Amino acid sequence: MIPRSFIDDLLNRIDIVDAIDRHVPLKKAGTNYVACCPFHSEKTPSFTVSPTKQFYHCFGCGAHGNAIGFLIEYSGLNFVEAVRDLAASIGMPVPEQSAEPFPGQFAPDESPDAPVNLHYKRDAEISLQDLFGALQVATRFYREQLKTSEKAIVYLKKRGLSGKTAARFAIGYAPGGWQNLAAVFPDYASERTQKILMQAGLVIINDEGKQYDRFRDRIMFPILNPKGQIIGFGGRVLAQEEPKYLNSPETALFEKGRELYNFFSARRAIRDADSVVVVEGYMDVIALAEHGIDYAVASLGTATTGFHIQKLLRQTDHIVFSFDGDKAGRKAAWRALENSLALLTDGKFLSFLFLPEGEDPDSFVSKHGKEAFERQLKQAIPLSEFLFKELCSETNLHTSEGRAKLISDAKPLLQQVMAPALSLILLRRLGELSNMSQNELEGVLQINHKHRAPVKSKPLRKQLVTPYRWLILMLLHNPGYLDKLDSDLLSAIDENTEEIAALKALVVFLDRHPHLSSNSSAFSLLAHLQDNPYRTLLEEIESETLKWDNTIDLEAEFSGALEKLQQAQRKKRIAELYNKPLNMLTDAEKRELQQLAAR
Ligand code: UTP
Ligand code: MN
Repeated sequence: MIPRSFIDDLLNRIDIVDAIDRHVPLKKAGTNYVACCPFHSEKTPSFTVSPTKQFYHCFGCGAHGNAIGFLIEYSGLNFVEAVRDLAASIGMPVPEQSAEPFPGQFAPDESPDAPVNLHYKRDAEISLQDLFGALQVATRFYREQLKTSEKAIVYLKKRGLSGKTAARFAIGYAPGGWQNLAAVFPDYASERTQKILMQAGLVIINDEGKQYDRFRDRIMFPILNPKGQIIGFGGRVLAQEEPKYLNSPETALFEKGRELYNFFSARRAIRDADSVVVVEGYMDVIALAEHGIDYAVASLGTATTGFHIQKLLRQTDHIVFSFDGDKAGRKAAWRALENSLALLTDGKFLSFLFLPEGEDPDSFVSKHGKEAFERQLKQAIPLSEFLFKELCSETNLHTSEGRAKLISDAKPLLQQVMAPALSLILLRRLGELSNMSQNELEGVLQINHKHRAPVKSKPLRKQLVTPYRWLILMLLHNPGYLDKLDSDLLSAIDENTEEIAALKALVVFLDRHPHLSSNSSAFSLLAHLQDNPYRTLLEEIESETLKWDNTIDLEAEFSGALEKLQQAQRKKRIAELYNKPLNMLTDAEKRELQQLAAR
């Protein structure tokens, strides 16, 4: 059994945006994140995720829940599996035993542990924690080895690295030899440890069943996930050998298309600089850091994916890709461009810096220093320019055929751009280059800017919202408001709409769980109300908070709603008393009527 307090703790610590983004890439929209709903088919995103309240809601189909609910619905995990998956993603050990009973849907499921990473099969008895642990032990070993390896130290020095930078990146050295890890892991030969080491990507087992270290005689660069846990390595040869870099294989912890080298450490610097440089190599990142440029990340021997870009665009509006000036570098840049188009919003600024042929960021910054590199960054080519430059490089615009080719090459790219202003600008530019009018192009490209204007979110129509609904909203948003609610006022309500019943049920629930009203404002209360008969209504009401912007004065709204409720009660009572023949009123009732009317 998993204790309830653990679930609360988990929900408090994980970020639903990360949890969902792993499966359904999200886009930032105001304070929330959106995507096309994974639970029903749609063309415009109505699936919304709230980072502040940690729940998701689809305005199209009504799907609603927290991170655990998402995994259950989306990945088909059972409750316990979903909890384990989320806990593992942040390295929280799951307590197994507890006397605390499990209410409602929190009942444990007996089914065996399923693999948590949907992209990678892993033995059930091996936990992600085991894998993290092994990588950590290996990192310590490699770092220890670096201290005593003369040739590795000489190599790093020759490449201009200070001891401080090497330590900061936890750089190590895997010595030559086939089974160095045998001395590092005490029960190396046990079946379980074998499995762990293999599934962590540290050892390889050959066809004869012989087990040997993957990384031998290489400089080791640990790769961290966004939470700062080691998930794999890049290993570089010291001499001229192939392959120059050997990377960890994809494992349950490491998916190359999602991870970026140095993302964890650079996050702060990226925010501070409000910009990120994406480079190709480990050594580029490290050399830039050596020279005081800390906001660089690298993809890990793969193309820059949409996922990478999305991750970065959450940190900053400015991405500069700095790739080699050679053909391979331009190709990599083009892939990055293709993968970015659909993710751009107006206000995001992507650019491309091509260093002179033969230079990479490492060599450039080592030769010319920080200021020179940052000057280069400022002169990077904007995405729109790079796009047309590349498209035109293969076309002769002096011929009609060339211009037609330009249009057909541009079409699939421009069609992906959802950012209204950028889309228009690209279309204009294409018009200039191809000598076509915007109208003509819109026809050919099937892009209609009139329909592409951003849908303005409707202001919340408060006048249609009853005070009961407001009170529910407030309580869901911040259960602490319970203290300010006059319970007599509530019990006096004798109408019986679903909203009122839901409000009353919510209040009863909060009364019974006082700890929730004091400390659960960071995640959705509805996790605890799965069995509540008004759950659907409560979910629907909670979803309205997604449309809130920070101009809403919650205090004022709350007292306003209370005030309205009091007014309504007063009017009702007055009407009641008035409806009685005067001679039937008791003295007390007469006094009450006077008082009510005087207010
Ligand atoms: P580079 O060869 O440009 O890397 O490859 P680098 O960092 O500049 O290398 P050196 O140390 O200065 O010579 C860029 C990236 O491509 C991946 C690695 O992630 C590397 O950092 N790569 C490269 C491999 O995975 N395997 C290879 O054999 C080469
Ligand atoms: Mn290099």
